[in-house]
Formats: sequence, structure tokens, C-alpha cells
Amino acid sequence: MSAGTAASAAYIVAGLLFILSLAGLSKHETAKAGNVFGIAGMVIALVATIGLAARSISGVGAVLLAVAVVVGAAIGLWRARRVEMTGMPELIAVLHSFVGLAAVLVGWNGYLSVEADAGEQTEVAENLLGIHSAEVVIGVFIGAVTFTGSIVAFLKLSGRIRSNPLMLPAHNALNLGALVAFAVLTVLFVIDPSLPLLIAVTVLALGLGWHLVASIGGGDMPVVVSMLNSYSGWAAAASGFLLGNDLLIITGALVGSSGAYLSYIMCTAMNRSFLSVIAGGFGNEGAAAADRDYGEHTEISAEGVAELLTDARSVVITPGYGMAVAQAQGAVAELTRHLQDRGVDVRFGIHPVAGRLPGHMNVLLAEAKVPYDIVLEMDEVNDDLAGTDVVLVIGANDTVNPAATEDPSSPIAGMPVLKVWEADQVVVFKRSMNTGYAGVQNPLFFRDNSRMLFGDARDRVEDIVTALPKPDRKTAEPALQH
Ligand code: TAP
Repeated sequence: MSAGTAASAAYIVAGLLFILSLAGLSKHETAKAGNVFGIAGMVIALVATIGLAARSISGVGAVLLAVAVVVGAAIGLWRARRVEMTGMPELIAVLHSFVGLAAVLVGWNGYLSVEADAGEQTEVAENLLGIHSAEVVIGVFIGAVTFTGSIVAFLKLSGRIRSNPLMLPAHNALNLGALVAFAVLTVLFVIDPSLPLLIAVTVLALGLGWHLVASIGGGDMPVVVSMLNSYSGWAAAASGFLLGNDLLIITGALVGSSGAYLSYIMCTAMNRSFLSVIAGGFGNEGAAAADRDYGEHTEISAEGVAELLTDARSVVITPGYGMAVAQAQGAVAELTRHLQDRGVDVRFGIHPVAGRLPGHMNVLLAEAKVPYDIVLEMDEVNDDLAGTDVVLVIGANDTVNPAATEDPSSPIAGMPVLKVWEADQVVVFKRSMNTGYAGVQNPLFFRDNSRMLFGDARDRVEDIVTALPKPDRKTAEPALQH
């Protein structure tokens, strides 16, 4: 078997493993297996690609390749081991920017080694040269948009720049103008490829990527992260066409389409239109609502919450980003077990964008061994909240904000939220009266049936567990299985 055939066979196996990985990741129960399939696919893909490349490069090239792989793998391992769950979105945004940059470099390399090289050019059939030029310019465009867009997303998510939207006059016209200019430049480049045209496309795309993400603010960043995930997939697929690498095309298309589908799900969850996300600059209206005076809030102690819970028959816990910051999932699981030992019906309500990345809360609760069957999605639990005795809002804010449904002038108006205020009693765990990610004040904190429990969520949950009376085993219902 030739090296090329062996690599093609390995690519098919790797492609299948990536598909199995995506299928596995779609359910809690199979997510670990999904990860293993993904890792195996990537190892096979790397070995096949390096093996293929090693046959056609010089000794110095092979050394450079080995050094690049070792240095890249070392940095990847180091970052992955050190990153906190709360820092994952930033890390993902940085990784997307690398994919974008790689696509730009591959595109430029394609131009320099074919269109700009008269010798190579004559070896490419004339009708294929046009296709090659189109691949170059499209790959560079998608890659550059992904690159700067991801850098802005990283800066916003990590708090290095303000997450407020940049509102340039006529920003929609600017975006549309950039797309029209790209179409014109592409046609010109395919007819007569030249360096100034490629520079123009690169600069245009870098600017567009920056502007698209800079003009999105508040709580709408989750959709942006998944859109950039999709763009990075298409950028990789474009590079696959240029390099003639089938696996890169397959993998890029998988990432691109699954990212697009995830964005669609997130848009539905946040009641945003898919088109307005792609166009950038939504979720910017009505920031004035943040300063409204909602009156006084009422505090409660951990012992007070323990008393409330002692009398409760049904409890719903709605975790948010603060649970991740406090690493309170273990204490929350412990509290759940205590309450179930007392015969209380405990369930979790998970908002689709709670935390800072899709599935953030589910991962933390699974890590703390909370059984999947009591972890419900927002839509599964929302109608039951009105009949619930106590809701514990643990480090969530935007995802439980009634202004989203009641105040059309709110920046998060229209975003579906967990209707926790409909329960008999609501206890909000947070450290201060500060706003959440969207920077919007939350009228929930000032409602008559709301109590604020201030402090680190983990400490407070542990205090409640300590203050709870020991269960009366004779009267208690069967305990939580895990
Ligand atoms: P947020 O609205 O971000 O609120 C989190 C709350 O946790 C804050 O109000 C904070 O209040 C509290 N908190 C932080 N550390 C804490 C600690 N150690 N102990 C107790 N409380 C703590 O959270 P959410 O309800 O989960 O909403 C998520 C937001 O992030 C949405 O706006 C969403 O659009 C956005 N977002 C989501 C994603 C994805 S994909 N999920 C990605 C990017 C952005 P204190 O400071 O007063 O403690």
C-alpha cells in the first residue's frame, strides 16, 4: 500500500471517529466516550498527516515539523491542565483565532506558491487556476474574519475590554458594504490574481471580523462564541481545499455545520434572530433600564434558609456562573442529598446559556455526581416553578431576570428566562448586589418573596448543610441513588 493510500484510509477512520465523537457529545451519558473518540481520531489524523509530510520534506523541514508539534502539544497540555472551567470560553475563543490565522497563512502560502509563481502557475491547468484563486481568496476572508472576531471575543470574555457594544453610525451598512466589497474583490482576484487585491481582501476581512464582534454586547456573547466556532470550521475546510487534504475538509465541515446548528439552538434559546447575529450589533437597545430604582432587598442567613428548606416539600435549584466561580457544585450535590434524605423533591433547572459556555452547568453537576434525571432544562421546569415551595438561585443572575419578560426596554428583553419569582420563596446566593454578565440590574432581588443570601456560594451552601436538622430516617422517602 502506498503512503498516500494508507493516509487516505487513516483519514476515513479519523473522519468516522469525529462523527462518533459529535454523536457521543450530544448526551450526558455518552459524553466521555465522545471525547475518547475525538482524541483517537485526532491522534490518527496527526500521525497520518505527519507520516505523509515526512516523506516529501527535507531533513531541516522534518526537524522544524517535529519541533512545532512538540512545542504546540506542550503548550496545549499546559493550558488545558491549568484552565479553570470559568476560563474555558476565553480559551476556546483563542483557539478559534489560531484556526483563523492558520487559514489566512495557508491562503497566502497558496497564492505565493501558485499565482505569484510563474513556474508553478503553468503547471496548474488554466481552468483550475481560477478555482485555486477563488479558494485562496475565500479561505483568507473566512480565516481573517475568524481571527480578529475571536480576538475581540477573547478580550471581551476575559474582561480585558468592556463587553459593551461598539455602536458606529450605520454599522449594518458598514457590514453589508464590506460583504459587497469582498464579492467584487473576489471576482477581480479570480480574473487577475495580484498581491494588492489579496492584501485588500485580508485587511477588509480583518476589519469586518473585529467590527462584527465588537458591535455585539451584553448577554449575547454565547451566540457569538458558537458562531465563531462555526466560522473556524469553515476556515479549516477552506484550507483543506487549498491543501488538497480531505480530512481537513471533512473536519472543517463537521465543525462548521455543528457550530452553525449550535448557534441556531442558542438563538432560539435567547429569542434572537439568526440573521441579526450574523449581521452583528444586536442586543444594544434600552441600556437605561439598568439604573432604575427597584426599592429595598431583604437579606436572610444560612440558618434562615435551612429553616425554609426544613418546611419545603419541593425545591428547585437554578445554578449560574457564580456556582462555577465558587466551585460550589460539590456542596450543592451534598445539599441535594440531605434534602432528598428528608423526602424533599429536589430538581435542577438549567438555562441554556447559564454560565459561560454551552452545557457549563451540566458538566459541573455531572462532575459532582448529581443524577442526570433530576437535572432538567429550562423548558422542562419553567411551568412547575409556580407550584414550587423554594427556589435556590445559586450564582445565577441574567438567566433569572424577570426584566427579560416584563420590561421591553431592558437590554435582555425577549430572552427566555427561568421564572423563579413564581415560586413561593426564592433565595438568591451571591456576594453583592452587582449585576451579572449583561450588566443589567435584576428586579428579582427586590421582590417580596425574594431573600438575598450574601457570600461565596460554596461557603453559604456548606453553612446550610451544617444548619439543616439531621434527617428522620423513619419518615424520609428513599434517598438519592448515585
Ligand atoms: P450571570 O448573569 O453572569 O451572574 C452570575 C452571578 O454570580 C453574578 O451576579 C455574581 O454576583 C454571582 N457570583 C459570582 N461569583 C460568585 C461566588 N463566588 N459566589 C456567589 N455568587 C457569585 O450568570 P448566569 O445567570 O449564569 O448568566 C450567564 C450570563 O453569561 C448570560 O448573560 C449569558 O448570556 C452570558 N454568557 C453565557 C455564555 C454561555 S455559552 N453560557 C457565554 C458567554 C456569556 P456577585 O458578583 O454579586 O457575587
